[in-house]
Amino acid sequence: MSALDLFEKTPLAAVQKYWNDRPCNIRHSPKQIGTREYFDEVERRKYMVEPHIPRFAQFEAWRGKKVLEIGCGLGTDTINFARAGAHVTAVDLSEKSLDLARLRARVFGLEDRIRFIQADAEHLAANVPAEPYDLIYSFGVIHHTPHPERVIAQLPPFTKPDTTVKIMVYYRWSWKVLWILARYGKGAFWKLDRLIAANSEAQTGCPVTYVYSRKQGAALLAHAGLRVTKAEVDHIFPYRIRDYVQYRYVRVWYFRWMPRPLFRAFERTAGWHLCLTAAPAARP
Ligand SMILES: C[S@@+](CC[C@H](N)C(=O)[O-])C[C@H]1O[C@@H](n2cnc3c(N)ncnc32)[C@H](O)[C@@H]1O
Repeated sequence: MSALDLFEKTPLAAVQKYWNDRPCNIRHSPKQIGTREYFDEVERRKYMVEPHIPRFAQFEAWRGKKVLEIGCGLGTDTINFARAGAHVTAVDLSEKSLDLARLRARVFGLEDRIRFIQADAEHLAANVPAEPYDLIYSFGVIHHTPHPERVIAQLPPFTKPDTTVKIMVYYRWSWKVLWILARYGKGAFWKLDRLIAANSEAQTGCPVTYVYSRKQGAALLAHAGLRVTKAEVDHIFPYRIRDYVQYRYVRVWYFRWMPRPLFRAFERTAGWHLCLTAAPAARP
């Protein structure tokens, strides 16, 4: 059974419930949820564990520009686009995540720079007014919806010839997939797609998680006539989970002994995040 057969009939309500029950990164800080200290710590931890995100997003490059973010979650990247001076439209399916992202924008005095919209990205055009954006950004979202290609097919009304599209989807040929197969599947590769979804996130039981090769990533973006201009693989989570959940950062033994340059090379070859930058195909 292919991943599509497995996930395409998943009710969107199940996806929504999963992310409402535990919005992404909500436990990145033990401080009181909703306070400035809480949000600051969420951001510190996120970019400490995933330093490639600011490199990929290039927040400062979008000053004065219009950014459409699909799947903003708690709004860590959203806030950073707005802080850098962008005008952001941020969409998410999860009301709980959006409530926190809205509160976060208020806490940092950035409400006038961000428009939040609760919507299913598979029906983006029915929920977000059609207008061209300078950047369409989506980090770790599209692989969690039952029909990722439908999200991409929604993008043309939001693009113009010089729009940049930056999308991160999970990478099929990654260390994490191998680790999930070994740890949770005891090598049962025929159950791999199910195992990946169940174990892809901090909270087990994610209803939908697709993974993509570089070629599949390019084919996904082609649903909106987008051409990939850069495809980078990055990010291996190196920490011992029992320490990490206690906010301690102890590497697992095999990564502790791996020289850092070798670890970085490994991340760039077998990382979990396939970071795709794309442009409308007609653009030279
Ligand atoms: C892993 S989180 C990533 C959040 C954020 N981009 C980040 O990096 O922190 C995935 C997000 O995708 C959202 N999502 C999943 N399916 C969606 C859909 N069909 N439409 C809109 N948002 C969706 C979830 O609600 C969740 O907030």
